Amino acid sequence: MAQIWPIGGGKGGSGKSFLTSSLGRLLAAMGKKTLLVDLDLGSANLHTLLGVPYPEKSFSDFIRKKITLLEDIVLETPINNLFIISGAHDSLDIANLPYEQKIKTVRAIARLDYDWILLDLGAGTSFNTLDFFLISQNSIFVTTPEPTSIENVYRLVRSIYFRRIRQYFTATEFKTLEREVETQFGEGSFNKPDCIIQVIKLAHPEKGEILESDFNSFKFKLVLNQLRKHDNIVLGSQICKIIEKHLGFHIEFAGNVTHDDRVHDAICQRVSFLERYPYTRTAYDLRELSKNIAKSGNQQLMLRYS
Ligand SMILES: Nc1ncnc2c1ncn2[C@@H]1O[C@H](COP(=O)(O)OP(=O)(O)OP(=O)(O)O)[C@@H](O)[C@H]1O
Ligand SMILES: [Mg+2]
Repeated sequence: MAQIWPIGGGKGGSGKSFLTSSLGRLLAAMGKKTLLVDLDLGSANLHTLLGVPYPEKSFSDFIRKKITLLEDIVLETPINNLFIISGAHDSLDIANLPYEQKIKTVRAIARLDYDWILLDLGAGTSFNTLDFFLISQNSIFVTTPEPTSIENVYRLVRSIYFRRIRQYFTATEFKTLEREVETQFGEGSFNKPDCIIQVIKLAHPEKGEILESDFNSFKFKLVLNQLRKHDNIVLGSQICKIIEKHLGFHIEFAGNVTHDDRVHDAICQRVSFLERYPYTRTAYDLRELSKNIAKSGNQQLMLRYS
């Protein structure tokens, strides 16, 4: 079964697509059959980073049932072992997928026969993005050192938690839950997954057990991208500690990726940064990051959609 890693971040431009394409290239170079899925619906551009000409087939063909098998919209890339499902033709209406279609898509992705599947997700906390994160218990969050980007990543992680809890309750039950948590633990406590789980475990033991086990199995990694010379190199671990302190769960710092203006040059020239500038600090960081991800082992899929 494939290792599925959604890659996202709260803010646009933090480098999600660049990291997805770079990690894809590096995993493929390790001999892993790797698929990149562009799920930034509405603004998909991953194909451009991989040197794939404007794709003939894309995700919308599957959604609109022009093509029934997801396998049939997989495109080859110029890189050995690396494949892509493009989102290129997808317009904004597809950016708000109905829930049933999302489930269908999630299941189809999970059945694909690859060693690694990386999902390039849109910025923000739309339901699409949150639900695609919840395909897998693994997640990679990308932030830059800017406070706005860090703030958004924190919000994103929190929203993923809430979305998971919300999947087990109706809107009314969720409201009641909020009241119960605040009565028991005080105002503002509904922000803390820990308090919510305690209340759920009392009122709905079965759901509480499942959620607790889901949360314990989350494997979250944080990447700090575009780190410049004067930035604090331990910022990444500090962010992880803050998230742990406030949300009460572990997020591993997976590494810094140094800022290099030549990333921009490589993208403009439509060449691979890793191939053109292999001896830069940024290329070294990307290789270290790919090793960190590759050794992450066999996780199961979540797929606990009702
Ligand atoms: N490590 C880096 N060093 C220098 N520039 C970088 C680095 N990573 C990304 N960039 C720059 O940031 C730009 C945005 O990157 P990218 O498109 O990957 O972001 P994104 O998070 O996918 O954005 P969006 O949310 O709009 O899809 C790139 O075009 C590139 O110029
Ligand atoms: Mg992108």
